[in-house]
Amino acid sequence: MVSADPRHPSPPSDHHVGQPQKSTRCVSPVLTFAVGFLVVAAAGAFLYWNSELRVPAGTPLPDLRIRDDAIGLDSSGEAFSFAVLGDNCMCEAPRLAVMEDAQAREILFLCNMGDVVRFANPAHWKRYMRELQSHLKPNLPYFHTPGNHDVDHQVFGKQYKFYEHYLGRTWYAVDAGEWRLVFLDTGKLGLSQIQRNWLGEKLGEAKQQGKRVILLTHTPPRSTDGGPVDHTMGSESSRALAEIISGYDVAAIFAGHIHKVFTYEWHGIPVYVSSLSKQTWKPDPAEYYQVWVEGKELEVKTIQVMRPAMND
Ligand SMILES: [Fe+2]
Repeated sequence: MVSADPRHPSPPSDHHVGQPQKSTRCVSPVLTFAVGFLVVAAAGAFLYWNSELRVPAGTPLPDLRIRDDAIGLDSSGEAFSFAVLGDNCMCEAPRLAVMEDAQAREILFLCNMGDVVRFANPAHWKRYMRELQSHLKPNLPYFHTPGNHDVDHQVFGKQYKFYEHYLGRTWYAVDAGEWRLVFLDTGKLGLSQIQRNWLGEKLGEAKQQGKRVILLTHTPPRSTDGGPVDHTMGSESSRALAEIISGYDVAAIFAGHIHKVFTYEWHGIPVYVSSLSKQTWKPDPAEYYQVWVEGKELEVKTIQVMRPAMND
C-alpha cells in the first residue's frame, strides 16, 4: 500500500527494488555482444595486418634480385650508355614518364638511386613491383640502391626486409667494359664497417683489372668545400669514404636523397644528384641523367622530361 502522507513516505515496493536488477539483465547481453565483437574485430585486424607484413613467397620479377656481390654485363664493345634515375617515390606520373623516356633510348641498363617507395610497407612495395611489371622493358637490367624510405619501416620494433626480398643484395658491383659501378647501401644514411671493408676490396680489384669506377649511393657524401652538408651522409661516413677511395680512379658519384637535380665536386670527383621533387611538373621538368661511356671516357647529360600538355 502507498502512503498518501508525504511525512511518512512508503517504503520502496518490490517493483522498485527489483528494477535495477532487471535493467542489468537487459544490458548485459548487449555488452557481451559488443565486447565479443570488438575482440573478434581486433583479432581479425591483427591477423590481416600480420599477413600483410609477411614477406610474400615470391617476387614477380626475380631477375631484378641481386644475388652476387659482383655482376658482369656484356657491353658489346667499348661504348655504351645507361640512365640514372633518382629518388622519385613522391611523384608517380613523372616517375613513370622518366622511366619510359629512359627506356626509349639506347641504354644498356637502368640505375635507380633509391627511395622507390614512400613507405617500406607491403602495399607500397607491391605497387612498385606491379609498376615495374607493367612498365619495365623485358630483359633490361635495372640496378637499385636502397634509400631510407625503402628500408625504414618498423612494426613493434621489427624491421621487415622487403627491399632484400624484391631486389636482393643492398650493395654490389657491376662490371661493364672498362668500368666498375659500385652500388653502396646508404639507406641508413651512413656506411657500415663491413661495407667499408668490402668497398676497399672491390676498388682494389678494379685497380688490378685497370677499370675505372663509378660510385652509386642513395645518400650523397657531405661536402667539404661548398657543396651540401644537409641531407647527406654523416661527417664520419663521408670522411671514411674519402679515405677508402683515395688512390683509386673514381670518375663520378651518383646520388639521390636531396630532392633536386644538381652537381657538386667532392674531393675532386663530380657528384651528380638526381631526384624528383614536389615541384616536379609544378612546373619544373622531371630530370634524370643519361651517361655515355666510350672506352675510359665518361659523359653525363641531364635529360629533362616535360609534363605532357593538358587537353583542356
Ligand atoms: Fe632519401
